[in-house]
Amino acid sequence: MSDPMSDPMSGPAADPAADPGGWPVTATRHLLSIADLGRDGINEVMRVTDSFVEVGRRAIPKVPALRGKTVVSLFCEDSTRTRLSFETAARRLSADTMNFSASSSSLSKGESLRDTVETIDAMGVHALVVRHFSAGVPWQVASWVSAAVVNAGDGWHEHPTQALLDCYTIRESIGADAGLEGLRIAIVGDVKHSRVARSNVLAFSALGAEVTIVAPPTLLPPSLAGWPVVVSNDLDGVLPKSDVVYLLRLQTERATESLLPSVREYTAGYGLTRERGALLAERALVMHPGPMNRGVEIAAELAGLPNSLVTRQVANGVAVRMAVLYLLLGSGADLGA
Ligand code: ASP
Ligand code: CP
Repeated sequence: MSDPMSDPMSGPAADPAADPGGWPVTATRHLLSIADLGRDGINEVMRVTDSFVEVGRRAIPKVPALRGKTVVSLFCEDSTRTRLSFETAARRLSADTMNFSASSSSLSKGESLRDTVETIDAMGVHALVVRHFSAGVPWQVASWVSAAVVNAGDGWHEHPTQALLDCYTIRESIGADAGLEGLRIAIVGDVKHSRVARSNVLAFSALGAEVTIVAPPTLLPPSLAGWPVVVSNDLDGVLPKSDVVYLLRLQTERATESLLPSVREYTAGYGLTRERGALLAERALVMHPGPMNRGVEIAAELAGLPNSLVTRQVANGVAVRMAVLYLLLGSGADLGA
């Protein structure tokens, strides 16, 4: 398998031998990268998500679409939003769920990841939702199992369902018909260590947005070859020209060296401080994938303003993940049931 980190803009899922399927997901077995989808695939997920948003508004937000299917959360790295929203999504589709926690599993007795996932697969499960601290693990898992694999975040590489829920949330805010065509989106912060940035650059640009990444030079990837972005280190200059400002957390758990003089200095140059909030365009939207470090990349009071979409992102995450599971495992049941 090729190393997904060698060229972040053309990861291993682009290799047709690795995943011969194509979107719509009903025709493909896995969701590993935004590159699997392209513009049409993303729009297909958005369309199906609309139905599940409607389901979520019902008194009993549940449909029988995946009755008899089993969805396993296989998380080898911490998570709050992604894990809980996939589990909620699976239950709302009437799937059975299984929860695997690396720390309490036989991985701690020395069992290999391959033996572990093959063991789970042998139980007859239908989907594995995989988060791992190493880039490329979901591709490896997909090559070992017969179940569908969904990448829930692999190392610095990709987080495709985060990008899908972000696209959906922007669309919801500006009007679904407007799309993202020509929208000016600034992604600000620790791009180097961010799988969210990689998936979002692919998704936003596939939908026609103009993406600018803003980061100190030490927090940019070593090469930006193939990234469809403009690069800046002047946040004050970029803010007034942006329709969407997407902030990233400093991924200190992934940094192996000291890349910043201090967190305080980072905030002074690249944080959306209260003072910088005044530079935002009138209707600019503020986004963050969470977890937020309030006071570092975003001032606490700005995270709670009406133009902040952070809570909408989380809410839409459930419906988007329902759409992904439904498209991958689709039973053909009537969504309106
Ligand atoms: N939760 C997102 C991720 O897992 C972003 C972050 O952790 O900062 O990539
Ligand atoms: N945004 C995101 O992936 O959050 P978690 O790490 O809490 O899942």
